[in-house]
Amino acid sequence: MKMLSFDTNGPFQDNYKFLIGSILPRPIAVVSTVNKDGTNNVAPFSFFTGISASPMIVAFCPLIRSSTGKEKDTPLNIKEQGEFVVSFVSEEIVDKVNDCSTELPYGEDEFTHSGLTPLDSDIVKPKRVAESKIQFECKFRDFLSYGDGPGAGQIITGEVVKIHVAEELYESGRINTEKFNPIGRGAGNDWIKCTDLIQLERKMKAQIQK
Ligand SMILES: Cc1cc2nc3c(=O)[nH]c(=O)nc-3n(C[C@H](O)[C@H](O)[C@H](O)COP(=O)(O)O)c2cc1C
Repeated sequence: MKMLSFDTNGPFQDNYKFLIGSILPRPIAVVSTVNKDGTNNVAPFSFFTGISASPMIVAFCPLIRSSTGKEKDTPLNIKEQGEFVVSFVSEEIVDKVNDCSTELPYGEDEFTHSGLTPLDSDIVKPKRVAESKIQFECKFRDFLSYGDGPGAGQIITGEVVKIHVAEELYESGRINTEKFNPIGRGAGNDWIKCTDLIQLERKMKAQIQK
């Protein structure tokens, strides 16, 4: 295989394309927060992962907005209010989730814009996405920043203090992937369906040594 090699000190857009073209498929967190004036804010983030099971911690990464060089509304709200909700994305709601990534002026409600329905949370103030089959209520834990310029990333972690799962997905303590029907983010305008699962038995050391 002939390999091409690149340095990473060029324009941030080039590095960004390597990130989104390589880290695939990416799970999507639809993060809801409350604005200063009490209105709702919702936006999807695909730089998103689980970090810890006990305590239960998730992380996602807002980048400084390339169009304005400013911080996004989601991290601003979380640092101020200390709470957020992650709602997960099934194929059925992909269009509405895409719509809620629109860069609306601060204070305009992306629930209203996208047609997603706000649902009260049990513990935190930000609303859950009612159409989402899995929702995590989170309390803000950590903030890391890698710079102030366009394309610079931040890490926000939150402790999950309440989990909500649609009854139809929940089978003997597990989430049924087919019923969840998650969709992932790809490069550019790509989204990735998870309808083609394969199963591989995990090999333990004892099996390999046989
Ligand atoms: C599926 C999807 C995934 C996205 N993932 C990210 C991400 O990981 N980080 C990021 O900064 N922006 C991401 N965006 C763009 C944000 O959703 C967009 O900038 C949004 O306007 C931010 O809203 P806010 O200012 O209310 O926080 C993504 C957009 C889509 C459609």
